[in-house]
Amino acid sequence: MTKQEFEKGIKRVLIPQTEIQEKIQAVGAQITKEYEGKPLLLVSILNGAFVFMADLCRAIRIPCETAFMCAKSYYNGTTSSGIVKITMDLAQDICNYHVIIAEDIIDTGRTLNDVVKLLQARNPLSLKVITLLDKPDRRLVDLKADISLFTIPDVFVIGYGLDCAEIYRNLPYIAEYDEEANA
Ligand code: IMP
Ligand code: MG
Repeated sequence: MTKQEFEKGIKRVLIPQTEIQEKIQAVGAQITKEYEGKPLLLVSILNGAFVFMADLCRAIRIPCETAFMCAKSYYNGTTSSGIVKITMDLAQDICNYHVIIAEDIIDTGRTLNDVVKLLQARNPLSLKVITLLDKPDRRLVDLKADISLFTIPDVFVIGYGLDCAEIYRNLPYIAEYDEEANA
């Protein structure tokens, strides 16, 4: 893909970098207060949540551990196939931790629903879900994040960790993807 083709896919900026950072700092302060004195484990779901996790963990001012899981929801273009697969699991036992799952986006809710069930069965001290983005219009399972930073309309978004066919994760903001651009 050329630089020009790359830029054609960016329809408009939906959430600027500064707004994302402001919200993350606020949520980081909230976690710092709520979890002081508790063993905290932040679990990020790869690949999409790696950027969010990197900023969120640096907004938390108490000791916390970080861990990664890889859950793949298979996509045909920009729509989910409904098939979720855990391709990399956590290495540690979570029963002695208060766990916070950091997710990039809740769309149909299937990915997170599977991950929450899996982690809940391992008896953590507590389990919460924080998502950067929430697209409630498309929900197919009954799932709500404990904290959602931004609620967005039903558009396909890219940037700040989110991809379209593995491209655009490196944009520092959230943008709407132009589905017509490289069709
Ligand atoms: P769900 O299982 O339908 O909730 O989908 C969750 C996963 O699908 C997210 O972790 C993303 O990786 C991906 N996804 C859902 N909506 C979008 C989007 O608008 N842009 C990019 N990826 C998305
Ligand atoms: Mg993805």
